[in-house]
Order: sequence, then C-alpha cells, then structure tokens
Amino acid sequence: LDRRMFLQASAAFGGAFALGAGLAAKAGGAPDPQILTARFTEARIATGGTTPRLMTYDLSGTAGSGVPPVLRMRKGEPYAARLINRLDEPTTVHWHGLRIVNAMDGVPEMTQPYVYPGEGFDYLFTPPDAGTFWYHPHCNTLMQMGSGLTGVIVVENPKDPAFDAEIVLNLRDWRLNASGAFIAPFKPRDAARGGTYGTVRTANWQREPVYDAPAGGLVRVRIAATDVTRIYSIGLEGAAAKVIALDGNPVEMPFALDRLDIGPGQRVDLALRMPENEESRATLDNFRGSSPWTIATFRAVGASLKRDLRDINPLPPNPVAEADLSTARRIPIDLTATAEQGVSTSICGTLGYTFWAINKVPWPGDTPDPVAPIEELKLGKSYVLEIANRTPHAHPIHLHGLSFRVLAANKRTVLPPPTDTILLLPDEQAQLALVADNPGDWLFHCHIIEHQKTGMAAYFRVA
Ligand code: C2O
Ligand code: CU
Repeated sequence: LDRRMFLQASAAFGGAFALGAGLAAKAGGAPDPQILTARFTEARIATGGTTPRLMTYDLSGTAGSGVPPVLRMRKGEPYAARLINRLDEPTTVHWHGLRIVNAMDGVPEMTQPYVYPGEGFDYLFTPPDAGTFWYHPHCNTLMQMGSGLTGVIVVENPKDPAFDAEIVLNLRDWRLNASGAFIAPFKPRDAARGGTYGTVRTANWQREPVYDAPAGGLVRVRIAATDVTRIYSIGLEGAAAKVIALDGNPVEMPFALDRLDIGPGQRVDLALRMPENEESRATLDNFRGSSPWTIATFRAVGASLKRDLRDINPLPPNPVAEADLSTARRIPIDLTATAEQGVSTSICGTLGYTFWAINKVPWPGDTPDPVAPIEELKLGKSYVLEIANRTPHAHPIHLHGLSFRVLAANKRTVLPPPTDTILLLPDEQAQLALVADNPGDWLFHCHIIEHQKTGMAAYFRVA
C-alpha cells in the first residue's frame, strides 16, 4: 500500500474510528483515549449577547464557558485522544509544537484522512518535550480556529520546579458584532497586509479576567497566543516575573520580563511573583499598538507566602538535538508577497485569494497535491534555513514536527531556546538551525492564518 491508499483504506472504516496510530497502538499499555468532541456551543464573549455557533472542543461532556479544555499530558508517556466530529464540516486536530510521529500530526490528506461530521479519529502519541503547547484543527482553519477551536496543552514533567499556583491564559480575539454574532472572518485587503484583526479581545474567552493567586507566591503563568492574527507585546504592571520558557522550551537562564513580542502560535511561560499585600493587583498588558490595554489581572489573596523569584530553578531542558553546523546544508527561504492569480479550490477552506508565497510558490489550499515539498531533508542530517522576510509585515512562521534554534537574526538579539515558531519582523532575515530527526512531511507556514491560507505555506519532506 502506498501512503495515499493507506489513508483511503483507513478512511473507509465501517462506522468505527480510523486508527491512525497503527504502529504506536501495537505497543502495550496504550492509555484509554480522552474523548475530545468538536462541536457547536454558545457562550457570552461580547458584552452585547451570547455568540451562537461558537465552536469548541469538550472532554466527555464538559461544556461550560466554551473554552476548549487544557489538555494535560506527561513528557515521555503515551497520550491518546479520540476526536469526535460533531461539527457540520470536516476537521482534524494538529498538536502545535509537539514533536510526535507524522501520522498523528493532523494535516488532512497529508498525514491523515479528513474526519467528516459524525466520524472520529484516534490520536495516540508520546510527547518528547515538556512545556506549554496548543491544539487546533488543520482544516478550514480561519473559520474553525476563528470560531473557537484553539486549546492549550500542558505537557508536565515531574522534574519541573513546584509553584504555588498555575494560571493558563489562552489569548485570542473574535470577529463579532455588537450583539455577539460572528461577522465575516476576514477582509481581503487586510489579508494582503498584516491580517484582519478581531473586534473583541479576550483571555480564556473573557474580557480582562481576574485570577486570584496567593499573595507573595510564585505563579507559573502559561500564555498561549492562539489568535489567527494578533501579535502582542506583553509586559507586567504591579509585579515582577521571569521568562522561564518560550514556545514550550525552557530558558536556560531565566530573564526578567520587560516587553516580549509573541505572535500567533507562540507561547511564553512566566514565573510571576505575586504582590505582597492581600487584594493588591498586577496586570498582564499588551503594549503593541497605539495604546496599552490589560489582558488579565492577578489579585493577591491571603497572607504573604514571602517567596522570592530567585527560589525558582530553571526548568529541565527538553531533548532537542544540536545541529552540526560544520556539515549543515544551507537552504534559502524567501517569504514574499505575490500577485499571482488563480486559486484552486479545496474542500477544506480556500479563501479564494493568493497574496503570499514561499520561494515563489503560493500554496493553493490544504492538500499537498500537486505541490512538491520545498526541500527533501535527509533523516538525521543538519540544516540551516536562511529565511528572509521580504515583506513589510511580520510573519510568525511555524514548522511542524521539528524544533529549530535561531542562530542569528538581523533585527534583534535572538532568544536562546529552540522553538517551533519564529516571529519574523518586517524585512527581517534569520538563520534557523535544525536536525531533521523526525521522518515525514512537515508543514511550514505563517501562523497569521489568512497568510497561510492565501499562499504562505509549504512543507519539508524528511526521509
Ligand atoms: Cu499551529 Cu500548521 O499549525
Ligand atoms: Cu504571515
């Protein structure tokens, strides 16, 4: 069976579930799957009224606020989830940042069949890295993610230092009118520029939520930027924090948070020291744009725990291989705007425009055919991607299945840990080093979803 026939064969399951995890499932001790249902719900997000046709994931009937559950996994231990599709269109789940087997990566037609309404798909994998990650569909993504299908993943490591509390923040915007109904997900004019912004800004689907945490305590704040467009520049008022992980990977020498840019797809873990006095507050704010605004507030409760930011040890590192720069082949990657016309339609959500290209080729839709891989990488070899943003807009560029290190960038000092998503500033050039140690076809795309869906996507084949 070639791969395509295999996918078709497994798509033809008779009322049961496609088991994509053929190999993994053979290993004994596969855990019972969490039942992750993609479905419609409604919740109040805008001030004006409830939002109908909100999409969410729920775990075995937990509904509530509409926020998809935080999925908790353990580093090095198998995790299973059964996606059930109760939407009215096909979907899949991509586990953003997890370096797992290709067959579990959630890209329709490329790594698995579409999961049609009423159908399911069994995901089974072992996350190799601990940290903050996230999950979302890889099908009609502007619509599905824009309607609410973006959730946070916490991969725990029993060796992580202990905190007094943990707060998970899923940051995103919504395109809603004053009464809470969805409006058009994008404007072509904006898709050809920085992307179309939402009209309502939230953390965990709430406007400026307030979280209680022990006064004088140390809180691990896990922040995931899951919006389809917005780039933040985060900072704290009223408390101090250290950046302990970026995009899931520990920072070897945690540094004080001042202002930090995070683009769609990126994550930041903070060690936050709560204010000393009961009832005093600290705020997480966004400083990008014309005037700062508050994302979320932390309120101190109880008598001070009198903890100190210096009490926190760095997180243990993840097992990301170091590229061998002496043998690494260099691969130029150019991000450009394109005027190319003509878009092939796709059953999985083409926006109908082409504005962007990678190495001059705009990706037509969600399916890889007839698009060829941008490069074939040899399993186990090292590479340096020489990426150049030749546009006046920022692009958060995400690579599936592999982590890379930013060796150098011409617009700023690079942040040390490996990553899966780099926010490239306008006209920025950077060198990204990686070891091609995970076989399969791995997407490489802008995480401003309108950019991805109007051409800024490609894939690498590792074999
Ligand atoms: Cu976060 Cu291709 O995805
Ligand atoms: Cu982009």
